[in-house]
Amino acid sequence: MLCPPGPASRPASARAAAPPAAAPPSLVDPAVVRDPYPLYRTLRDTRPLLYDEPFGAWLLSRYVDVRSALADPRLVAPPPGRTLAHLEEATHAAHRALVSPALQGRALAVLKAGVERTAYVLARRLVRHQEADLVEEFCHWLPAAAVVAALGLPPEDTARVTTWCRAGLTHLGGAPGDLDAFLRPHVTRRRVRPGDDLLSVLCTARTDGRPLSDEAVTGLVATLLGAGGEATDRALASFLANLLDHPGQLALVRSRPDLVDAAWAESLRRDPAVHVVLRRALAPVAVSGGTIPAGATVACLVGSAGRDATRFADPDRYDVFRAAPGQLAFGAGRHRCLGVQLARLTAGSGLRALLAALPAMAWAPGFRPVHEGLLTRSPAALRVRLR
Ligand code: HEM
Repeated sequence: MLCPPGPASRPASARAAAPPAAAPPSLVDPAVVRDPYPLYRTLRDTRPLLYDEPFGAWLLSRYVDVRSALADPRLVAPPPGRTLAHLEEATHAAHRALVSPALQGRALAVLKAGVERTAYVLARRLVRHQEADLVEEFCHWLPAAAVVAALGLPPEDTARVTTWCRAGLTHLGGAPGDLDAFLRPHVTRRRVRPGDDLLSVLCTARTDGRPLSDEAVTGLVATLLGAGGEATDRALASFLANLLDHPGQLALVRSRPDLVDAAWAESLRRDPAVHVVLRRALAPVAVSGGTIPAGATVACLVGSAGRDATRFADPDRYDVFRAAPGQLAFGAGRHRCLGVQLARLTAGSGLRALLAALPAMAWAPGFRPVHEGLLTRSPAALRVRLR
């Protein structure tokens, strides 16, 4: 789901649609990777449907187009890959139905205390420090710990699991060898004596009357670690950066905890962790005055959609009081993220713990966050002074 498509031979209808000269820069242009927002604005204003040859995909940049593309059944996850995102129709619905109850409602309420405790322990570890990098010391750890708790894996293995989380979804489904070897004994135990965690749910589930194979279980776990770990890590870093950049709003959120969820949603709009969701067209799709040919790769620019001025007033501003910030950061339609609630719980717990343990937290002198990444994006470091 998160691998760039790479250069491709230009489809026939792209040849007809492409301008003869002065094409806008590509998504892979180093200047665009450093700051994609000027290109996003140009695309939305003048080229809402554009074939980006070096990137190898059709770019959709307007809020309405990105939202409908994400939900369009003619647009599916591009091959190769075997994650949940690559399944469709009955099998997809069956696998979602297995996973989703374990990530919401009562199951999530059970996880809450553990996630809050972990956030508090991680924040307390920093109290004696003069300065720290919150990406290294906090954001890399808390989301991994939350997914470890949801799966019911031993908390002492969080450090190992964190490295798999940080690999993101590059393994495209199926568990890499070392993760598979780590998971197998846990799977065997759950088959014999299931508990009430997500791994037990997967080990005891039946689809089409048959249990999931060990390989299917470890593959699903790898998807959850990749999807949940990396995305939440990055989104949490952007959330903290937005609040540290706006000390007035940070002070407000500190005095009014009821604003935490709105502050999180606004950060996901302005600086989503997943900037680009890729799809492949199964049939021609008419959109924004043009047609995406069958077989083409489509890049849904979620990072651009969140800054669309026709949908959001003054879209570059971070404003915790923004009404209805929209939720394309988690996708839309049948593949919408299953971890929305766990991510919100993780981010809210993380922020509250940091505010309680480190009341003087502010940017270290002279530090400015630098956002990195093309498909997933967030600050590389968050250097803060703590006393
Ligand atoms: C802030 C954190 C997160 C962000 C920004 C995020 C974002 C996304 C996005 C953009 C998609 C693709 C949606 C689409 O293709 O339309 C997705 C899918 C998915 N996410 Fe998340 N995610 C986050 C956290 C999590 C967590 C914590 C979990 C679980 C532990 C998770 C599990 C999944 C799964 C299983 C899918 C595939 C759903 C499907 O294809 O049916 N995500 N996520």
